[in-house]
Amino acid sequence: MHMHKFEKAWLIFGIGSLLVFLTVLGVSAFYLGNQPPSCLATIDPEKVDATAPFNEPGLKKVEGKDWDYELVFVASAFSYNPASVEVPYGAKVKIIATTKDVVHGFEVAGSNINMMLEPGYISEHITTFDKTGEYLIVCNEYCGVGHHMMSSKIEVVK
Ligand code: CUA
Repeated sequence: MHMHKFEKAWLIFGIGSLLVFLTVLGVSAFYLGNQPPSCLATIDPEKVDATAPFNEPGLKKVEGKDWDYELVFVASAFSYNPASVEVPYGAKVKIIATTKDVVHGFEVAGSNINMMLEPGYISEHITTFDKTGEYLIVCNEYCGVGHHMMSSKIEVVK
């Protein structure tokens, strides 16, 4: 079979980039352990206030886990509970959040933390705060008339 050399070149390029893509994906998933958020953790959105850990929002020290603290947030129109929280510098923190009503966002400005909070689901993110200062948390999912006022803050202290 005769193949034009350009056709051959493009075929090699196409198959080559597919292999590179699959290799990067494979290393990321199986070697580095990167996975999309599971969405397997569910909650009854009407009973958020009565369900642990959301019955006690805020920062809590934990033992025997891969992280040092759990930071629990409950979002509702148009605020976060807690409205502000102090986190020790350098601590490994698992942020656990959900919403009581509609979809809200949870973006920590100046970081790569950006979650969507959906009614009925629990969103989690593990992070280490290795810069002191104030981090603004904003809602980046339009949720109603008070959307633009919805915020909280994390203060990282030594
Ligand atoms: Cu909550 Cu926008």
